[in-house]
Amino acid sequence: MVGRGLWICKPRFGKRGGRLGVVPYLCAAAATAALLALLFVDLIESWVTSIGMNTAVEPHAGIIPPQSVPPTRPEEFLLMPSPLVCQRAKPYLITMVVSAPANQRARQAVRDTWGGEVEVRGLRVMTLFMVGVASDPGLAKLLIEEARERGDLIQGRFLDSYSNLTLKTVSMLGWARRFCPQAHFMAKVDDDVLFNPSALLHFLNKSRNPYEQGDLYLGRVHLHVAPDRDPDSKHYLPSGAYPPSVFPDYCSGTAYVLSRSALLKISLAASASPLSTPLPPEDVFVGLCARTAGVLPSHCPLFSGGPGVPYGRCCYQAMVSVHHVPPREMLHYWAGVHTSLPCSWLSRRASLGLCKVRSMIGSALGLEQGL
Ligand SMILES: *[C@@H]1O[C@H](CO)[C@@H](O)[C@H](O)[C@H]1NC(C)=O
Ligand SMILES: *[C@@H]1O[C@H](CO)[C@@H](O)[C@H](O)[C@H]1NC(C)=O
Repeated sequence: MVGRGLWICKPRFGKRGGRLGVVPYLCAAAATAALLALLFVDLIESWVTSIGMNTAVEPHAGIIPPQSVPPTRPEEFLLMPSPLVCQRAKPYLITMVVSAPANQRARQAVRDTWGGEVEVRGLRVMTLFMVGVASDPGLAKLLIEEARERGDLIQGRFLDSYSNLTLKTVSMLGWARRFCPQAHFMAKVDDDVLFNPSALLHFLNKSRNPYEQGDLYLGRVHLHVAPDRDPDSKHYLPSGAYPPSVFPDYCSGTAYVLSRSALLKISLAASASPLSTPLPPEDVFVGLCARTAGVLPSHCPLFSGGPGVPYGRCCYQAMVSVHHVPPREMLHYWAGVHTSLPCSWLSRRASLGLCKVRSMIGSALGLEQGL
């Protein structure tokens, strides 16, 4: 539109300038448009995603009556903090970090950075770790010690393996429903994610959310994903286990957020669903349960999803989650993000735009592996 406006101005430039006289203006207009697109790349992304999203609620969707699902029992967990942990701490946000028994360094990096915070923007936050049973007896012993020392481990009664990740999520949702109904929001985060509770709480506050009461299932939404029918793939899902040709829209499992009411509905649907084998991937399973419960996902461009995001101090201050961050980088980036002054509005916008564009180019070229 800006371009067309300039063409209309053409005659004013007279014969001497001719067509060429307009070129600099066109270039300036194109540069301005590119700059604006860069500054507001997240809004453009939200808009494009919302066009592709399926917003029809399943006709039979609805909340599963709590009394039809047996309550989560403490015996389902081999290790866990005091059952009163949430009653005492009353967290506004509880973050459940899904971790493997061997990833002690990753857990420590989380504790030493964002997971160590107890108050963010004046609200209480709490971080706990979710693990399964270690097959190695030495590792199992170390976990018991770690739980005693730190008091932040929850261990479900299932073997910790990649193909059991969905069981870990079912267990995590059950734990949160039973032992942490006080939290207004629950975040599920992987242990290689640099999470930013402050950016999340800012986002929730800024959206002047009706979510505190209503349903929220927030993250990077994956649209129209087809099940993997390749028997050699680690996400193989035969059509016998899941007949439809696409999954419902779901949030990337690297990091997503549920409001209290969405957590209740989704976890009840998860506990009520038959756990056939093989189970769909963890994040797809949550998406399926959300659909059963009539909860739609919401897209937030501040969640990185699978692809990594190149480091930029102001960009990382704005992002809610960044994936593929090894322990050493986590300490390093957090120090850069957290101990420095807040970035100005313009530098945050510009840095966010640049790192998003670089990340998009990276994943388009296949430099970064997605999920
Ligand atoms: C939410 O926004 C209000 C008004 O803009 C502000 O006063 C308040 O401190 C914010 N709360 C959080 C948690 O950011
Ligand atoms: C998942 O956990 C169950 C219960 O511990 C176990 O029997 C099963 O072998 C595990 N599956 C895999 C693939 O590790």
